Amino acid sequence: MILSVALALGFLCAAPLASALPANSGKVPAHLPKRPIPGNRIATYLDDSKPIEVRVEDALKRMTLEEKVAVCHAQSKFCSPGVQRLGIPEVWMTDGPHGIRPEVKWDEWDQAGWTNDSCVAFPALTCLAASWNRDLSLLYGISIGEEARYRKKTVILGPGVNIYRTPLNGRNFEYMGEDPYLAAQMVVPYIKGVQSNGVAACVKHYALNNQEVNRHTTNVIVDDRTLYEIYLPAFKAAVQEGEAWTIMASYNLYKNQHVCTNQYLLIDILKKEWRFDGAVVSDWGGVHETEQAITNGMDMEFGSWTDGLANGVSNAYDNYYLANPYLNALRSGKASVEVLNDKVRRVLRLIFRTEMNRNRPWGSLCSDIHYRAARAIGADGIVLLQNKNNTLPINADATKKILVVGENAIKMMTVGGGSSSLKVQREISPLDGIKEAVAGKAEVKYVRGYVGDPTGEYNGVVTGQNLKDDRAPEVLIAEAVEAAKDADYVIFVGGLNKSAHQDCEDSDRAGLELPYDQDRLIEALAAVNKNVVVVNVSGNAVAMPWVKKVPAIVQAWFIGSEAGHSIADVLFGKVNPSGKLPMTFPVKLSDSPAHATGDANAYPGVERTDGSKILDEKYTEGIYVGYRWYDTKKIRPLFAFGHGLSYTTFKYGKVTADSKTMTADGTLTLSVDVTNTGNRAGAEVVQLYVSDKKCSVDRPAKELKGFEKIALEPGETKTVTFTINKDALSFFDADAHKWVAEPGVFTAHIAAAADDIRTSVDFELK
Ligand code: BGC
Repeated sequence: MILSVALALGFLCAAPLASALPANSGKVPAHLPKRPIPGNRIATYLDDSKPIEVRVEDALKRMTLEEKVAVCHAQSKFCSPGVQRLGIPEVWMTDGPHGIRPEVKWDEWDQAGWTNDSCVAFPALTCLAASWNRDLSLLYGISIGEEARYRKKTVILGPGVNIYRTPLNGRNFEYMGEDPYLAAQMVVPYIKGVQSNGVAACVKHYALNNQEVNRHTTNVIVDDRTLYEIYLPAFKAAVQEGEAWTIMASYNLYKNQHVCTNQYLLIDILKKEWRFDGAVVSDWGGVHETEQAITNGMDMEFGSWTDGLANGVSNAYDNYYLANPYLNALRSGKASVEVLNDKVRRVLRLIFRTEMNRNRPWGSLCSDIHYRAARAIGADGIVLLQNKNNTLPINADATKKILVVGENAIKMMTVGGGSSSLKVQREISPLDGIKEAVAGKAEVKYVRGYVGDPTGEYNGVVTGQNLKDDRAPEVLIAEAVEAAKDADYVIFVGGLNKSAHQDCEDSDRAGLELPYDQDRLIEALAAVNKNVVVVNVSGNAVAMPWVKKVPAIVQAWFIGSEAGHSIADVLFGKVNPSGKLPMTFPVKLSDSPAHATGDANAYPGVERTDGSKILDEKYTEGIYVGYRWYDTKKIRPLFAFGHGLSYTTFKYGKVTADSKTMTADGTLTLSVDVTNTGNRAGAEVVQLYVSDKKCSVDRPAKELKGFEKIALEPGETKTVTFTINKDALSFFDADAHKWVAEPGVFTAHIAAAADDIRTSVDFELK
């Protein structure tokens, strides 16, 4: 019975199909609608031999008004629709910027519970910037792009290049430091690396999002010269040299408009001046109304907090500002189709460059080569801040007892910090890295020393570590001091962590000091042991009142999956450190530019009295950000921008210029010999700063205009050359709205750090 029914059904199903598709006819039967036959690409937009712009125009003209509006806003937490009817794929975004974020539910921030979404955590971008290594930035971009590609992502939400204005900014660890030239140089290879995978970089957070406190409500007041000289160059380089396919507009306001719907930043500068042809993505929930979102350059709206969304109703995404409200405005003739077409072209360009690029590679996830890249970048970015009596590197063969102290030696740092939080396949802690490096040689003992934040959870990803310890600080310190007494070395691993009010999104730090009584602990350790090595894990400068009491200090950043390996590589000399600080470490907060006056107008802003909840914040220090401030005001920092030691020594020769003069349309080449005078191979970051001797406007004492990282064998000499043109001499003339290089005498300084000029030469711009 069953058999005969099955046979009958089989007969019924098979018969019409067989007769409808005559073998090898190649024709679609007349009673079926005409459609392209796979492999026979009739539509221009599907034809990848055609230029992208031709395909974009072809796709655009096939789309309905509804389909066009649909691609301009999200359909889930991280995804926006394609055009189902035309086979144009969806766009899948992911954080960024240090690894590929685990999958969340369609409509919620909670974990989706996938088991195939663990990744490699690469070092935080402060660490990458501290490497001053363009090649490693490219490797970083390629590697993270491969992970994104394997995870089927269209866009990585990163890298971040907001300038380090204040050491309190909770998100500085996601950025590339205080100098626009360094950030611009480092961001370009990252983007190129990512995009070589057919995955788009989304450079964030454009622009003036330099703090987390009140990030949605701060209206930044900054003069044009400062905007162009300090806060825009890295974004401009990302667009023009990196050719980033997307850019993320930030949460804050500028000129009283939210940046996500900001005419000046998005239309006038980004799209008109810089000719950006990609898509502007909103930061999540950064769009607040429809009209300006339409006219002021917002292309892809994500994360809006509509009432519908909060209630989880099914049509939440239809309520986005660029969804039904936009459609209504178009239907009633209040919005122009031409403006809509511009947005859609940008989204289509993004899709053709990524999802519809049939030639892009397939990517890879958690590959050995990615771990090796992460480890190498981590070690290259670690900065040896201080090394009295050549305390480091530690010779494991000649060492019996090593005491490791501090929560950061064991705490997983890849979970937390906000949207950059990850679910990693593995994370090597500093303690494990140290143990591995000395295995079979020295004995390693660990004591806690202090209890910071024992929790370890972000958005449902849990570290699984039990760090609970209820002992009082006095007990913990006493235990550490006792253990330190007979140790050959004490390696203290502390600093900040990824909890709120530290290195974490959505809040700023309360001060420059280390939290959790760490200063007291370090002083106590230093009092009983002369070989205390402080490893500071942070994405921000911290105060070090004990700086003179410990011989060695290492700035280790948040390094990710391979943290412990990278740190041990440096501590035990497998790698000779060559990182240099991408930001100044001030002695105290009031030394730093945004906090010098203590005026709330300069930081964190002052709330308006009109009930709008908006705060005005004036960047009163103007162009004097970072070393530009410390140099010009002659304030001695704790550790200067560009500072970083090595286990070898470098001697700089005398810099020479190929001419005494430079013409406005010419170039000048500077050369300097650098020799490794020690007995270890090492790498040095040779820095070029330029000073304008006399100018009609105030200028910083000097500005970074070039750097090269060179590797030198013991005794080896290399000639480093820098070729500059008038761009290196220019300031932004706000009235004329252009860059100006005034004739006169300039000085080129070749330096090992902003406070360590080795040789200088004058030249004249005619
Ligand atoms: C952050 C962005 C992030 C986005 C998506 C926002 O809160 O500011 O950097 O990419 O969330 O997670």
